[in-house]
Amino acid sequence: MEVVIVPDAAAGGELIAEAIAALIARKPDALLGVATGSTPLPIYRALAAKVASGAVDASRTRICQLDEYVGLPAGHPESYRSVVLREVIEPLGLSEASFMGPDGSAEDVQAACEAYDRALAEAGGVDLQLLGIGTDGHIGFNEPCSSLASRTRIKTLTEQTRVDNARFFDDDIEQVPHHVITQGIGTILDARHPILLATGEGKAEAVAQTVEGPVASIVPASALQLHPHATVVVDEAAASKLKLADYFRATYAAKPGWQGL
Ligand code: GLP
Repeated sequence: MEVVIVPDAAAGGELIAEAIAALIARKPDALLGVATGSTPLPIYRALAAKVASGAVDASRTRICQLDEYVGLPAGHPESYRSVVLREVIEPLGLSEASFMGPDGSAEDVQAACEAYDRALAEAGGVDLQLLGIGTDGHIGFNEPCSSLASRTRIKTLTEQTRVDNARFFDDDIEQVPHHVITQGIGTILDARHPILLATGEGKAEAVAQTVEGPVASIVPASALQLHPHATVVVDEAAASKLKLADYFRATYAAKPGWQGL
């Protein structure tokens, strides 16, 4: 995997927004997989600024969701559908019709998961999948010990993830759902280019294990090592436990600029 160390979160957001802009320039109807959480917000801000300035025409871009809570009432502000509408679809000036996600309120959740995997494939597959990382190394909501071959399915959140996400629910863990739908690790690895952004010291251990540890389901993000074109963008704080940080810096510095991410 390619590891890029940037000074801070804003620089990471700008770099990844440039990669998205380059994708849209060569494929205007690209399918962009988006992640939720705080980490990707600088990407969405940087991309929205490019659209607002006219530098990027995202009008044909299609957006798909990585994961979703199960059982939140329709329109709940913290459902990931609501978050993506608020943070991505509206700022980019897109319509809901350009957006697909798993149905977290489906009566038959398993059928909804299978339908979502089929819909992604029928849409031509994800061109670029944005990812954050949980403090326990999860991607999407693939908690530790998720099968590395898993497809979209229902998962139970760990206590740690519910504690981490309580800040979006009035700091009340009781409001955080126990169950979620998530693209599986196998589904995520089908994306043509997964890009993981991690910022802050709290992610440093998970990043070190993802990048320099063995491929192991206990650290779900480590499965990205199996992808032929995965990129991990980290700020200095999130890179602080990487033994090979200097090597990664030198490698990226020597990369011809035109190659992009
Ligand atoms: C949730 C999401 C993940 C996200 C993670 C980290 O668990 N399902 O996609 O990567 O939170 O969020 P944050 O970026 O806020 O730390």
